[in-house]
Amino acid sequence: MPIFLVGFMGCGKSTVARGLAKFSGWEFVDLDARVCELAGAESVAEIFEKSGEEEFRRLERQAVDMLSPTSRTIVATGGGAPCYGDNMERFMALGTTVYLKMSPLALRDRLLRVRVVRPKIVGMSPEELLDYVTTLLAEREKFYSRARVIIDCDDVPSGSVVARLRYLTR
Ligand code: S3P
Repeated sequence: MPIFLVGFMGCGKSTVARGLAKFSGWEFVDLDARVCELAGAESVAEIFEKSGEEEFRRLERQAVDMLSPTSRTIVATGGGAPCYGDNMERFMALGTTVYLKMSPLALRDRLLRVRVVRPKIVGMSPEELLDYVTTLLAEREKFYSRARVIIDCDDVPSGSVVARLRYLTR
């Protein structure tokens, strides 16, 4: 069964998905990259800038519809993906869903450290970012927490998260 990693921006979905794929020999799929391919864009930021979030969500839905992952696939989804339309139902119907759960503070600190341009948070001060993450996570938690497996990732290195998920690829 394919594995879908869900969770807020910065929780480590791509890193964990890549690590798990490497360990297991399964294929790694990045949903944001699929959306960029559909848009003919270099980055998510470019889609947001040129066409806006609504268009990004439309393309994201299209990318979800086009997913027909074989059993040996690990999909890193975008942080908003499970929270729009029936995307979460679709992930759940297709495979095993895993929520990489982190607290707002831990997410904020990680988001401050990484340099990937995330259009939804660009230019925010650390205080604004914490407020934003706290509010948006509260709205999104109900979608994420429907996942079959929930892993608490605060203060857990991504290698340990991978180790804890290995059993799903056996
Ligand atoms: C988004 C998260 C991003 C990307 C887009 C919107 C969100 O993915 O899909 O910038 O709404 O949380 P990551 O979670 O991989 O950063």
